[in-house]
Amino acid sequence: MQRWLESIHARARARLGNGHVASYIPALARQDPGRLGIAICTNAGEVYAAGDARTAFSIQSIAKVLLLALALRTHGEALWQRVGLNPSGMPFNSLAQLEAERGKPRNPFINAGAIAVTDRLVSAFATPDKHLQDVARRLAGNATILIDDEVLESEWQHRSRNAAMAYLMKAFGNIDNDVDAVLRCYFSSCALAMSCADLAVAMNFLAAEGEARTMGERFVSPGLARRLNAIMSTCGMYDAAGDFAYRVGLPAKSGVGGGIVAIVPGRMSICAWSPALDDSGNSVAAQYALELLAEELDNPLP
Ligand code: DON
Repeated sequence: MQRWLESIHARARARLGNGHVASYIPALARQDPGRLGIAICTNAGEVYAAGDARTAFSIQSIAKVLLLALALRTHGEALWQRVGLNPSGMPFNSLAQLEAERGKPRNPFINAGAIAVTDRLVSAFATPDKHLQDVARRLAGNATILIDDEVLESEWQHRSRNAAMAYLMKAFGNIDNDVDAVLRCYFSSCALAMSCADLAVAMNFLAAEGEARTMGERFVSPGLARRLNAIMSTCGMYDAAGDFAYRVGLPAKSGVGGGIVAIVPGRMSICAWSPALDDSGNSVAAQYALELLAEELDNPLP
């Protein structure tokens, strides 16, 4: 299995050199576009890692899955009064639909949606950023996972667009808490630094009907795991969700740090990472690695 993963990694390297690293904050602009890692965590708890799979990177929008899982645990179905469930067909940081749709974001995986979800967590927890970090650590089985302060401060300095979304939602009554507190918490989630191996392990509950082996408990119900996978399938790759669904056929969530988590329900969780992105904000080489891996999964495993 290790050799199998390494051969996929070697083939995916062919796509290095395409795309551009995220440049909206210096901490991400400095990333080496030549990095490529891939890790899988089987539902039996075996972890395989190839290339740069043990290097921590900024998880960025992959955190939106954790934010959503936590908010659904605390608020249940009432959450859907605050945020919709349909693909936006727009860039992840678009403001265009928000005014027309009276401050209710299309889905929890675009920035506006994740900010509305974060507001629910700010209502529910005294220190929601620390709570999220703790959950990430426990799900990954890695107590050293940090929030990258440099990324956090940079996001804060460059917050205008996300702040505009948050204030617009506040004007429509869809943000209850102080906007700055909500944004700080949202940016803290984006600034979590985790490796492919950390993320493959942490997200395994989505492949295992909600069971988090690392926690020794069920993290979400089987129905909620199934629904989170459904939302990843429809909204996890932004306006490229349809293309990715056809090419790879797995529920997935990407981040502008270059990471993509993908789930094979009942079998394994996967994370691929390479910093250079396409025009939709999805990693070029990580998408290709997942495409190759999905094809290989159609055959019997080694
Ligand atoms: O809030 C932002 O715009 C970034 N911190 C996260 C965006 C992101 O990762 C979108 N993913 N592709």
